[in-house]
Amino acid sequence: METKLSDYRGAETATEKKVKVTFQPLDVTVEGEKGESVLEIALRHDIPLEHNCGGNCACTTCHVIVKGGMENLSEMEDEEDDMLDKAKGLTLTSRLGCQAHVYGDVVVEIPRK
Ligand code: FES
Repeated sequence: METKLSDYRGAETATEKKVKVTFQPLDVTVEGEKGESVLEIALRHDIPLEHNCGGNCACTTCHVIVKGGMENLSEMEDEEDDMLDKAKGLTLTSRLGCQAHVYGDVVVEIPRK
């Protein structure tokens, strides 16, 4: 079968759309689509990340601590910042998994509740 240049470009683009998220302390790395939230990626791969409000930035159960690739996450909005203040064990690299959208590889820790 003949491979056209356009096929190759398509394959390359598909690869570029993928991101890897490593969840600690499980030490599990899964793939997601660029732009998905940490929570969406976790749920699709059966990673136990709580999400009591259903991903609506109205709780803190999806709290994760970013261990690597912070620059690959979406900027924090005020709403998330305000909600995070209520998170137990807040750190300087804390994010809400449902609000942090992934644009490159990241490592996050799911803190103990
Ligand atoms: S699931 Fe409630 S804030 Fe993320």
